[in-house]
Amino acid sequence: MDAAQSSTPEQVFDWLDAEADKRSGAGLAHRLIPRPAAAKELDLAGEDYLGLAHDKRVAGAAAAAALRWGAGSTGSRLVTGSTELHAELEHELARFCGAQAALVFSSEFTANLGAVTTLSGAEAAIIADKHIHPSLIDGCRLSRAEVAAMNHNDVPAIKNALATRRKPRALVVTDSVFSVDGDSAPLEELSQVCREHSTALLVDDAHGFGVLGDGGRGAVHAAGLAGQPDVVTLIPLSKALGAQGGAVVGPRRVIKHVVDNARSFMFDTGLAPASAATALAALGVLKSEPELPEKVVLNASRIAEQLRDNKFQVSEPQAGVLSVRAPSAEEAVAWAACCAEQGVRVGCFRPPAVPDGVSRLRLTARASLTESDVDSAVKVISGSAPRGATS
Ligand SMILES: Cc1ncc(COP(=O)(O)O)c(C=O)c1O
Repeated sequence: MDAAQSSTPEQVFDWLDAEADKRSGAGLAHRLIPRPAAAKELDLAGEDYLGLAHDKRVAGAAAAAALRWGAGSTGSRLVTGSTELHAELEHELARFCGAQAALVFSSEFTANLGAVTTLSGAEAAIIADKHIHPSLIDGCRLSRAEVAAMNHNDVPAIKNALATRRKPRALVVTDSVFSVDGDSAPLEELSQVCREHSTALLVDDAHGFGVLGDGGRGAVHAAGLAGQPDVVTLIPLSKALGAQGGAVVGPRRVIKHVVDNARSFMFDTGLAPASAATALAALGVLKSEPELPEKVVLNASRIAEQLRDNKFQVSEPQAGVLSVRAPSAEEAVAWAACCAEQGVRVGCFRPPAVPDGVSRLRLTARASLTESDVDSAVKVISGSAPRGATS
């Protein structure tokens, strides 16, 4: 009998304890920190960029939809889970983004999985930026395509990979605004390179939609790529719209193909009616208050500037996301905890959430932050910093 067969049922998961000890030793263990309903902290961690999650018009629409359509969507969109609300939301999202069609999923994570897998496959090469979101990375892993991970924003390398590929089809995959440092992808250049090599461009606009572009139409729209026949955009309902869910937006035939083939769409319970109604109501607010998005960008650059003045190593935010380098994972955790004790909630990003292995505080800006909010957040972050965080 070998060692594995001689384990008792109580010992089967012993290896998990050893793994957990290793993570704790390296400062990589996670703790779920409950957020109270009426949080008093200054929130520089959430992704509710426009503050719509608690907007009464938006939350009220969610409550009304749950009462009318039910708490859950009751099944896959292909079985019983598709309602008029879903259709209306898809129509409105496509119109807002200047695209032919849209398809909503229960999360943007599942939308990314569905889009990457169905638009690639064994006959395709995927050329992806190394800093893309883990949901896109998982899509690449599931795709059976030949995947090349390129250095960050290295357009010549992407061009070369497209020119020398062995597969008949290709898909270039990038975030518009990268989720850790908040820097942006050169979308116009990427689109140009894709065109030269008859390749589709897939852009995750999670942190651009609702924040960048005309009235928050996103980074793809701002780059002049809305409605292009070879561009597919992924947008979140879960960030600037304050809801839950995600969508693929693009040419009608792409959407039709995704409906028929994406396993994360076909075999997933549809987006909850309340989330669809939330997103619809939030989109209405965004249309009626088009000045909200630019406040996010302004506040992010204010925070970055002040932290840089205080000698921290800060990224160059292009939308609402920025990050501050920490000397180590353990110090990043202690730094974030110290900020929280003083009423400022910040994100703490460590491996595997950082593409280069460098731990950071990840900060997000909201439209509603006042100058005095920014000043006090910067004071708390600066005052709680570990030795070695400044240069
Ligand atoms: C760039 C990016 N893409 C996709 C997602 C996944 O979105 P969702 O939380 O709606 O599943 C996130 C979430 O943080 C993200 O930052």
